[in-house]
Amino acid sequence: MCGIVGYVGKERCVEVLLDGLKNLEYRGYDSAGIALALPDTGRIETAKEVGPLANLTDVIGRRDEDFFKVRSGVGHTRWATHGRPSEANAHPHTGGGDPLGPEVAVVHNGIIENHAELREELKGRGFEFRSETDTEVIAHLLAEKVADGEPLTEALAGTLKRLEGSFAVAAMSVHEPETIVAARHQSPLVVGLGEGENFLASAVQALLGNTRRFLFVENGEIVVLTDSSVEIQTLYGQPVERETFEVDWSAEAIELGGYEDFMLKEIHEQPAALQATLAGRLDADGVVDLSELELGDLSGIERIVVVACGTAYHAGLLGKYAIERLARLPVEVAVASEYRYADPFGDERTLVVAISQSGETTDTLAAVEAARGFGARVLAVTNTQGSLITRDADTVLLTKAGPEVGVAATKTFLTQVAALYLLALELAGSRDSRSSEELAEIGLGLRRSPEKVEEVLGLLEGRVGEAVEVFAGARCALFLGRGHLYPAALEGALKLKEISYLPAEGYPAGEMKHGPIALVDEQCPVVAVLGEGILREKTLSNVEETVARGARVIAIAREGDQAGRVARVVLPVPEMPELLSPLVSTVPLQLLAYHVAKARGLNVDKPRNLAKSVTVE
Ligand code: G6P
Repeated sequence: MCGIVGYVGKERCVEVLLDGLKNLEYRGYDSAGIALALPDTGRIETAKEVGPLANLTDVIGRRDEDFFKVRSGVGHTRWATHGRPSEANAHPHTGGGDPLGPEVAVVHNGIIENHAELREELKGRGFEFRSETDTEVIAHLLAEKVADGEPLTEALAGTLKRLEGSFAVAAMSVHEPETIVAARHQSPLVVGLGEGENFLASAVQALLGNTRRFLFVENGEIVVLTDSSVEIQTLYGQPVERETFEVDWSAEAIELGGYEDFMLKEIHEQPAALQATLAGRLDADGVVDLSELELGDLSGIERIVVVACGTAYHAGLLGKYAIERLARLPVEVAVASEYRYADPFGDERTLVVAISQSGETTDTLAAVEAARGFGARVLAVTNTQGSLITRDADTVLLTKAGPEVGVAATKTFLTQVAALYLLALELAGSRDSRSSEELAEIGLGLRRSPEKVEEVLGLLEGRVGEAVEVFAGARCALFLGRGHLYPAALEGALKLKEISYLPAEGYPAGEMKHGPIALVDEQCPVVAVLGEGILREKTLSNVEETVARGARVIAIAREGDQAGRVARVVLPVPEMPELLSPLVSTVPLQLLAYHVAKARGLNVDKPRNLAKSVTVE
């Protein structure tokens, strides 16, 4: 977590840094800060404020014109790990210098695991610490070397050799005000290329208003930025050649565009996101084509393991359902943070599918590494071009949801699910596990899913309010579903707790009697995701059991379903092949969570304590 940004070039450094931080705020918003090399004197000045970036922007807005003529600097938005959110703990951290200003400034994303030892060592040499952060050791180590006369790049290389853990770090020195240096190990870092200016950031979306051309920085490399050059080298000074990559996201995609919040905008972007994800991968007859993945001979695959975290894990559960149903291959779905330490086993006949919107979730990357240990083939499903996971996987199935800003994942979830349905169809086709007619029918259903999601958005217009009323005075909620609608229930519960802070459980409807039913009363609404056929009947009977105990029920059901006899409110979804119905059933759950949170006066885009991208364990 945390976002870093750096700039060197024209007299618009403050603007670039603040814009970059705005687009990285999804990574954390406990505090924000910038360090600038002031023109003329070259001195470093920092500005930092606790809380969201807006607090920093307000303070900076009161500075005089000169402050805005700066040409180089670094910035940071924080998700606290070591030390509570406070001004002292806010980045940038500084080292060395005199009463007129520090000698170096540093911003960091990640965790320095040996910070306690380094702190003691530095204290022994007379350094005074001003914060509780792990990052401050980097500032002092660097300042010590710079004060000894080492050039900044060399000083950074020497400093990095002392660090254990994960980091993306950017630094500047008063002695080289026209240069920014940066490096990474495990945490993400990209360089943006401009004309007469260059940029760096934790993620490409920080820089889309400035450039679409990027360079990836690999583990153990240092990048040296000036206005006219970008040089990458190893920690030992060997120059490295790197190809640029282009990103096709637009800067407008990260603007609100008339919506009140990004989450609402992103929910409404789902039809287009699905369309883009399916385009070119499913023909007019419903036949899937994933030859882009170059998966080669799939017949040797005997088992699939899905690894993911959070919402991506729920997408994985839906993927399991579809792959097992269609391709008749066994699928295990593992929470990445568990899998990585589970001493996992398998061989080259295991296909590991790692799902990560950001492509940089530490636990998911570590799970991939663990699977590599036993020779698995790795397919990444990610939304982020150039992300860490795209480097680690054998092949990448890109979801094309465009940048997602709201912390609670919505459009990226639906596109992950669609990508997994494509994979299920591809695997089934290659294994002849289902007739081609059957597969084409599912394929055609999938092709129509953008329209169906559009339709559900229309059907729900003005309907969610009644469901929100059911939540008046609620102290918790229970989400129930069976089969493929159980993961949808899990996702509905997760959305609600993420943004409304109401305790919510997602449970298989049939299992509810073994515990969660004890929660049920008038203050614990039940949200039932009904499908078709036998599972619908069974879920409905379980719902009746909760009604008998006073529950107020919201049902997600096919248009025209008679669920109204048990439910206070029915949120309708259109007809769809049953296997694919989570694509439409999730939408009312997203909107329900959104409106409940709004009714509680909460910030849906930046829920407390959460970050969109989790780059620490
Ligand atoms: C965080 C986010 C979730 C996301 C999870 C996994 O917890 O808040 O929305 O599902 O990380 O993220 P990934 O980028 O790996 O999909």
